[in-house]
Amino acid sequence: MKTLLVVYHSMTGGTLQMARAAADGASTEPSVQVRLLRAPDAAAEDLIDADGYIFATPENLAAISGLLKDFFDRTYYAALERLNGRPYAALICAGSDGQNAARQIERIASGWRLKPVAPALIICTHAQSREAILRPKQIGPEGLQSCQDIGAAMAAGLVLGVY
Ligand SMILES: Cc1cc2nc3c(=O)[nH]c(=O)nc-3n(C[C@H](O)[C@H](O)[C@H](O)COP(=O)(O)O)c2cc1C
Repeated sequence: MKTLLVVYHSMTGGTLQMARAAADGASTEPSVQVRLLRAPDAAAEDLIDADGYIFATPENLAAISGLLKDFFDRTYYAALERLNGRPYAALICAGSDGQNAARQIERIASGWRLKPVAPALIICTHAQSREAILRPKQIGPEGLQSCQDIGAAMAAGLVLGVY
């Protein structure tokens, strides 16, 4: 049995929908256990005990969300050298950009010697005004399908041992 850990944070629901879609996609693989954890609830042991990872975050102030950063801060050194070579993917929910959040995750993951299974998936919600940013988000079916595909591909790769 392989384990896929999905760690996310979301303020207005967009990233949560993306993370759930990826988890649903991975769950189509019966021999993969999928763990979907909010960043504040995830610890270094969860990383060490898993075989692959999906990190999902909004881009806030040109960065990953504070609570995902807190998760990495709490776990980085405890997990260092213990995750080498494992696969990961990043899902970013952004108003209009997302590139910096993607870069930050890539940098942290490369420190852990994780292998990206795909370029970071950035979905833009086009929220730029105060009202739009504070409003609950709805990710469209195409975006959710892309997240599901990443989850399914990651799970299939774990089962086949291709990573
Ligand atoms: C404090 C704050 C800062 C933000 N900064 C950015 C930003 O730098 N770049 C961007 O593309 N979107 C930015 N946004 C927009 C969010 O990324 C966008 O609303 C996203 O859909 C939120 O995801 P969520 O629904 O999972 O919380 C910001 C939102 C907030 C609340």
